[in-house]
Amino acid sequence: MNLKTILITGGAGFIGSHLVRLLVNKYPNYKIINLDKLTYAGNLANLTDVENAPNYEFVKGDIVDADFIHALFDKYQFDAVIHLAAESHVDRSIANPMEFIMTNIVGTANLLNAARSIWKTSNLQPPTSNLFYHVSTDEVYGSLGNEGMFKETTPYDPRSPYSASKASSDHLVRAYYHTFGLPIVISNCSNNYGSHQFPEKLIPLFIHNIKNNKSLPVYGKGENIRDWLWVEDHARAIDVLFHNAKIGETYNIGGHNEWKNIDLIKVICKVMDKKLGRTEGESEKLITYVTDRAGHDLRYAIDSTKLQHDLGWTPSLQFEEGIEKTIQWYLTNEEWLNNVTSGAYQHYYEKQYASR
Ligand code: NAD
Ligand code: DAU
Repeated sequence: MNLKTILITGGAGFIGSHLVRLLVNKYPNYKIINLDKLTYAGNLANLTDVENAPNYEFVKGDIVDADFIHALFDKYQFDAVIHLAAESHVDRSIANPMEFIMTNIVGTANLLNAARSIWKTSNLQPPTSNLFYHVSTDEVYGSLGNEGMFKETTPYDPRSPYSASKASSDHLVRAYYHTFGLPIVISNCSNNYGSHQFPEKLIPLFIHNIKNNKSLPVYGKGENIRDWLWVEDHARAIDVLFHNAKIGETYNIGGHNEWKNIDLIKVICKVMDKKLGRTEGESEKLITYVTDRAGHDLRYAIDSTKLQHDLGWTPSLQFEEGIEKTIQWYLTNEEWLNNVTSGAYQHYYEKQYASR
C-alpha cells in the first residue's frame, strides 16, 4: 500500500492548493496534511473540493513558531515534507522585508530542524523514504541580460529581499543535506499563472483592473521579461520530482515561454475586450506607465533540460490556451476575487479557527 504521511506547507496558497488537489486525488493511500497560516494570500476556499477527502487534513499554524512545528512533527511523524509556505510577493518584500526574513528563512530553518530531529539523520545512507522537498524560485539566480538562461549551475545573485530570503532558504536546505545528511530535493521554478492566485501579482491584478475599468500600472517601460508556466504543470513537476528526483539535487522548472510584460499585457487586454464585448483596443487604453519597481530584474528564462531529459516532464499547455482559461476562471469566479481582495475570506476563516 505504501502508506505515507506527507506534510505540505503553504497548501492554501496559489501553487500549494493546486499541488494539494493533485496529490489528494491521485494518491488515496497518502495522508496529506496541509499546514498553512492563512495569511492574506492563502484561504481554504481554494480547496473546498477536497476538504472532506478521507486522506486530507488541514492544520492552521505558523512555520515561524519552532515549538509548534516540533510538536506537529512529533504528533504526525511525517514521512516527507513538501515546503511551499512563503511570503511570495516581491513588492511586499520591498515594503516590509522582515516578514520575508522570518517566514522564508526562519520558518524554513524550523522545518529543517524538526525533520532532522524526527528522521534522526546522521549520514548519507540511501535508500531512504524520507524527503524534504523545498519549492523555490528562479529569482534566486538574479537578472539575465538579453542572452542566456538560468541553469541549475548558475551562481545565485538575488536582488530583492524576497529573492534573497528564498536564496537563503535554499542554502539552508542544501547545508542540512551536506552537514546532517537530511534527504533533500530543491526545485526552482519560473513565474506561474492560473487560477487562485492572489490579485496583487501581474496577471490576476490586471484582469481584475480591466474588468473594473481601473488603470493598469506597468512598471518602467514594460520591457522586463518573465517565463510563464501553467500552475498545474508546476504541480505535476513537483509530483514527478517528489517521486523520482535524485536526493541532494536541484532541478529547474520552466515553460520555455518568455514574454515581455507589455506584450503579455496587450494579449490580456485583447482577450478581455472579446470576453467583455468591448471594442478592440478599449482595455489597452487603461495602460499607465508608472515608476519602476526598485531593483527590478530585467529578464528570467529557465533551462529545464535536466528535468525534461532525466525525468520526462514537459509542460502540457500552450500559453494561448492557458491564458484564455485563466482569464475565464477569474471572470467566472467573481465572488472569489471579491472575497480575497476585501479580506472577507481571511476574516471568515480566522473566526472559524478562533472559535475552536
Ligand atoms: P502564495 O503567496 O500564493 O501562497 C503562500 C502560502 O503560504 C499562503 O497560503 C500563506 O498563507 C502561506 N504562509 C505564508 N506564511 C506562512 C507561515 N509563516 N506559516 C505557514 N504558512 C504560511 O505563494 P505561491 O505563489 O503559491 O508560492 C508558493 C511557493 O512557490 C513559494 O515558496 C514561492 O516562493 C514559490 N514559487 C512561486 C512562484 C510563482 O510564480 N508564484 C514561482 C516559483 C516559486
Ligand atoms: O519568477 C518566479 C517568481 O514570480 C516567484 O518566485 C514570485 O513568488 C512571483 O510573485 C513572481 O515574481 P514577479 O515579481 O516576477 O511577479 P509579479 O506578478 O509581481 O510581476 C511580474 C512582472 O510584472 C514583473 O516584471 C513586474 C511587473 N509588474 C507587476 C505588477 C504587480 C508590473 O509591471 N505592474 C504590476 O502592477
